[in-house]
Amino acid sequence: MHPSRRRAVIGAEKARVWTAAAGLLLVLFLVVHLGGIALAAVAPVRFEAYAVRLHQAAWLPAVELALLGLAMAHLALGLAKRLANRRAGNTAALVSRRGEPLAALAARSQAAGGALLLLFLGVHLAQLRWPRPQAGEELATLRAVLAQPASLALYGAAALAVGLHLWHGTEAAHRSLGLLDPANGALIRAAGRSLALVLGVGFAAVALVLGVAP
Ligand code: HEM
Repeated sequence: MHPSRRRAVIGAEKARVWTAAAGLLLVLFLVVHLGGIALAAVAPVRFEAYAVRLHQAAWLPAVELALLGLAMAHLALGLAKRLANRRAGNTAALVSRRGEPLAALAARSQAAGGALLLLFLGVHLAQLRWPRPQAGEELATLRAVLAQPASLALYGAAALAVGLHLWHGTEAAHRSLGLLDPANGALIRAAGRSLALVLGVGFAAVALVLGVAP
């Protein structure tokens, strides 16, 4: 193999592993995030108290910084992997998704879904994080944002994108990290897809309840 092509293959492999690791850590954030905002839909008083406690936590800035680093790493390494794969002549092992239209769509839409989530994050953080609502006004701000039809549609699209991205991503990440084998493959696929479903449906349901409930 030509040395430049070999370097591209090694680069793609490294980027794949680190994209997967960062992606799996981001999933942890999404689980905690959904747990937190679900309170807004089912227990508004507890949600407000939770938001105040969270914002006073001394560790929050460090966690936010780590989150930003992970998101940037996931994005940059994912792009680097695509470029290196292209330079290497795209020799990455492809898994057949024939007969599984949803899995094929999820695999094909990884980059488009990632781009949509990036756009959503820019809007989402501008609406709710910069600036952060005053203590006691978190829920009112959230309701005001989601009462706008365009916002609600964007949150719905982001929930769908999260679900699709993870439908494929959880299994692919385990494969990239070398954790997938014939013995555990079916279990990892089922667990990853269940998590994708819970997160996708969960974010959509919370947005809908807060956006349309009186
Ligand atoms: C129904 C859908 C969602 C709702 C209602 C929601 C709500 C919120 C709220 C209220 C905050 C502000 C937290 C604070 O005051 O510190 C926030 C922050 C954030 N959200 Fe969401 N979110 C949703 C979906 C998502 C999704 C799908 C993602 C990622 C793809 C996401 C990523 C983030 C991030 C990164 C932050 C900043 C965290 C921080 O700086 O502490 N959110 N969200």
